[in-house]
Amino acid sequence: MNLPGKRQKSINYGNDDCWHHRFNMSPTIYLAPLQGITDRIYRNLFSSYFRGVDAAVAPFISPLKKMKSDNAQLHELDPDRNTGIPVIPQIMTSSPDDFTALANKLYHMGYGTVNWNLGCPFRIVVKKGRGAGMLCYPDRIESFLEKTMPLLKPKLSIKLRTGLKYSDEVLRLIPVFNRFDLNELIIHPRTAVQMYGGDVDLEMFERCLSLSKHGVVYNGDIYSIEDFNTLSMRFRQIKSWMIGRGLIGNPFLAEKIKFNTEKTRHERIEIIRDFHDRLFDEYSKILSGPAHITNKMKEIWTYMGGFFENAEKIRKRINKTHHRETYIDVVNKVFDELV
Ligand SMILES: Cc1cc2nc3c(=O)[nH]c(=O)nc-3n(C[C@H](O)[C@H](O)[C@H](O)COP(=O)(O)O)c2cc1C
Repeated sequence: MNLPGKRQKSINYGNDDCWHHRFNMSPTIYLAPLQGITDRIYRNLFSSYFRGVDAAVAPFISPLKKMKSDNAQLHELDPDRNTGIPVIPQIMTSSPDDFTALANKLYHMGYGTVNWNLGCPFRIVVKKGRGAGMLCYPDRIESFLEKTMPLLKPKLSIKLRTGLKYSDEVLRLIPVFNRFDLNELIIHPRTAVQMYGGDVDLEMFERCLSLSKHGVVYNGDIYSIEDFNTLSMRFRQIKSWMIGRGLIGNPFLAEKIKFNTEKTRHERIEIIRDFHDRLFDEYSKILSGPAHITNKMKEIWTYMGGFFENAEKIRKRINKTHHRETYIDVVNKVFDELV
């Protein structure tokens, strides 16, 4: 019998190897939603350059009172225009009626699963009791689910943090979630107050895992194969992983995790360069005005090229550009210098 638990003690996997691979257990990898970055154009192009990502949760959309079918947010999720990675749309609202209406609309557009955002940490969102602003109100979450679940056509997954201010807020939520027929819970074990920094609370994640009757997806701070191996050794029962900043920084990471294959540095830089140029072309078609395109690209560069030496210096050089032509010039120099 191939029992990973028994074998793991006597085998040294090395830092660069993946034990999932050895035991033929292929993990599911989700691309995390990053508002402003993992939009339709990014996701479509990503799938034509990089392997290993099974699905993407799209950045959140919020219901509007009268949401016409030609609404820009829905247009962005048109399945005919999302032909790369399979997509799970995400909705952020505290209104059960608005959520149900939009989720059912997405179902009729072809989406079998939707995701509810209970993690957005921004003050303006939290103040309105949305996103992570709901985490400290188990009763509101329960009543939301009681109202939506009977009317909801797609399956529901939930993406959450462990709390608004305190990591143990989640302990009151898991028993609530357990009462409903949910698809899965995606847990980013940070509080909203932490935003995107500070340590992930792995002990709290472990407690969630033992309490939840639903499948749990781990999300947070996976930047390398070593990070993945450490986490997957600790949380053996986790089959699905969500990666955000680590994948934007190194889009070859999912391929490494799933297939244990690796390209040379030269190949990787050439591929990233091509990917970048295609992104630039595609965004140029829809963004007008000199600063729009450079701002968009700079946002992506916040995380892109994480595996380049001097990534910070490169970002600083790019951030100084404000016009299309200077941006192109600097980026070409950066890539020329890297190879
Ligand atoms: C710029 C940015 C935008 C984000 N937008 C969303 C979003 O729209 N919906 C969401 O659920 N999470 C959003 N997140 C959170 C990420 O999906 C993810 O949970 C977080 O970055 C931790 O995972 P990571 O360490 O793998 O990046 C965002 C994060 C960043 C940095």
